[in-house]
Amino acid sequence: MKHFIITGASKGLGEGIAMELVDPNHHLICVSRSESTSLKIHAGEKKCKLDNLRFDLSQTNETDALMESIFCLFNISESEGIYLINNAGVINPVGPSEENPSHEVEQHIKINLIAPMLITAGFIRLTYNINVVKRIINISSGAALLPYYGWSSYCTGKAGLDMYTRCIATEQQRRENPVEIMSVAPGIIDTPMQETIRNVPEEKFIHKKKFIEYKEKGKLISPKIAGKKIKTLLLSKKFKNGELTDLGNE
Ligand SMILES: NC(=O)c1ccc[n+]([C@@H]2O[C@H](COP(=O)([O-])OP(=O)(O)OC[C@H]3O[C@@H](n4cnc5c(N)ncnc54)[C@H](OP(=O)(O)O)[C@@H]3O)[C@@H](O)[C@H]2O)c1
Repeated sequence: MKHFIITGASKGLGEGIAMELVDPNHHLICVSRSESTSLKIHAGEKKCKLDNLRFDLSQTNETDALMESIFCLFNISESEGIYLINNAGVINPVGPSEENPSHEVEQHIKINLIAPMLITAGFIRLTYNINVVKRIINISSGAALLPYYGWSSYCTGKAGLDMYTRCIATEQQRRENPVEIMSVAPGIIDTPMQETIRNVPEEKFIHKKKFIEYKEKGKLISPKIAGKKIKTLLLSKKFKNGELTDLGNE
């Protein structure tokens, strides 16, 4: 049995990834504040073991306990592979940085950067001596490399996540039973987050029209297609420790 921990699988890209991973030989452990009914039904039909853990990732002082409870859900010594996808993320606050409320900036960085860092560290700690395939994908964005007006929190969090990925890869190269890790920009996907982006006032996000156009011209990738690409990469021999890849370019 392979075990997959996925954050933010209640909707959007995370749901798309989880749906693609549904398989009788897979155990999905999904972490978010709400649950996907479609995923529950699909997993039930395909006899895929699914655990939904309700957790608010802004509660970063509770992530160690979260990881402990996740690793109590299965027998690690019998696992054929353990995988983590740090997918959950938020876009708000959007707007010039001086206008963004401090508590929203703090919340954003907790969800988009600190939580995936702590969850990754917990994953490494709790699988330290286990000699199976251990892989992590951090869901990043093109915004990690390109500054956008109004997205200072988002760009900063994703750039931090990319660098964290590279640091972990450097550390893991020296380990006996290493964890492999990659950062993946998934492309522009048709999710509730894109809807939020299209509804932000233009003075807060000057690129808004471009994002409305992506939707109107059918340029958004479906969560199913993006999920399939991520599943393929996660399980493939092409998985390259420490690399940042942009699936939107494929
Ligand atoms: N959509 C795009 O075009 C695009 C492009 C590049 C990168 N990305 C990245 O892809 C990832 C998924 O984005 P998406 O577009 O699918 O976003 P989305 O539709 O808004 O879904 C976000 C997911 O994150 C979870 N989440 C948000 N805040 C949370 C919290 N405090 N605690 C626990 N879970 C939380 C949500 O679950 P609950 O609400 O149930 O908690 C939901 O499952 C993000 O990291 C995003 O930055 C998206």
